[in-house]
Amino acid sequence: MADLSTTYMGLKLKSPIIAGSSGLMNSLENLKQFENAGAGAVVLKSIFEEQILLETQKFINSGDENAKQWNNTFKGIVDSQSHYYEEALDYINNFAKEHTLDQYLAFIKEAKKNLRIPVIASIHCVSKYDWSYFARRIQDAGADALELNVYVLPSDFNRTGTENEQVYFDVIEEVKKQVTIPISLKIGYYFSSLVNTVQKLSETGVSALVMFNRPYNPDIDIHNLKLTSNYLLSNPEEYARTLRWVAILSGKLKCDIAASSGIHSFEPVVKQLLAGATVVQVASAIYLHGIDQVKQLVTGLNGWMDENNFERISDFRGKLSQQNIENPAAYERVQFMKLYSKIE
Ligand SMILES: Cc1cc2nc3c(=O)[nH]c(=O)nc-3n(C[C@H](O)[C@H](O)[C@H](O)COP(=O)(O)O)c2cc1C
Repeated sequence: MADLSTTYMGLKLKSPIIAGSSGLMNSLENLKQFENAGAGAVVLKSIFEEQILLETQKFINSGDENAKQWNNTFKGIVDSQSHYYEEALDYINNFAKEHTLDQYLAFIKEAKKNLRIPVIASIHCVSKYDWSYFARRIQDAGADALELNVYVLPSDFNRTGTENEQVYFDVIEEVKKQVTIPISLKIGYYFSSLVNTVQKLSETGVSALVMFNRPYNPDIDIHNLKLTSNYLLSNPEEYARTLRWVAILSGKLKCDIAASSGIHSFEPVVKQLLAGATVVQVASAIYLHGIDQVKQLVTGLNGWMDENNFERISDFRGKLSQQNIENPAAYERVQFMKLYSKIE
């Protein structure tokens, strides 16, 4: 039996397979099953910045003296991102009532009491506004680490790439003022110079970058001429997009890398580790195949390591990263003249 243990964000994990943030992570029973199936850590369902701000709004309405300042902050956000917040407030009204902040904190405490593996809390945010105090409450509740899921869609015609990217740096700065537990940043692809920005983000003191979140994309229903949603769950081919960037960034960052998106079987787990990932995160495959899928991933990884005489993850991690292969350009190829020309 190979040794699957590893260190991620300074935390000791028994395996490099992490149950990523999703609705499945709201249940203690599920978390225990993830632990039993061999997950190295669990990331809880995100609490949304807007939920935190809604609670803050309640505070404002309570008539407290400090409330005015909060009110201005909240109004500032609504004014600056009205489309987004209209939808977010809708969501809050329907959903957040049952999922208040106190419940989230109580759930962290409960998870910590019942699990031996690290519990990573998660906040979904799109601004640096004053929700960051909540990060400290998450730390006080006992979370081992905090994942910040920041997704700035570059859809505002009045904002430059630099302005959009600054949000990520501001968020980290604000949250770092609040906590001492390790922070990871979960990001999307929308950067004008991906590797340059990601490298700079890795130098901010974050312990890991989670690459990449999978955006929800709108779709069009051509029969009813209406907007609809596209696939919520990833498909097994999607790991390849992350693989390229993990390989290119491996060895070039000042923090760990968690590879996310499209991990449905043990093979992409092996590939991401070979490319240089510290760990992988899995979500859609659990919806499709159940929590036991984690066991399949662990067993598959173990079997592959035994077959290839690797005793530890460090024996092969990064072996096929861009900096460790003979032809580094292979990871940067986007147009395959030779390949395309063969297809008639
Ligand atoms: C139903 C569902 C709910 C999710 N909820 C969250 C969430 O609350 N916070 C978060 O950071 N990511 C969330 N995600 C994104 C996943 O953590 C993951 O980044 C994404 O699905 C890509 O990984 P996968 O291909 O393994 O699904 C969710 C995904 C799904 C399918």
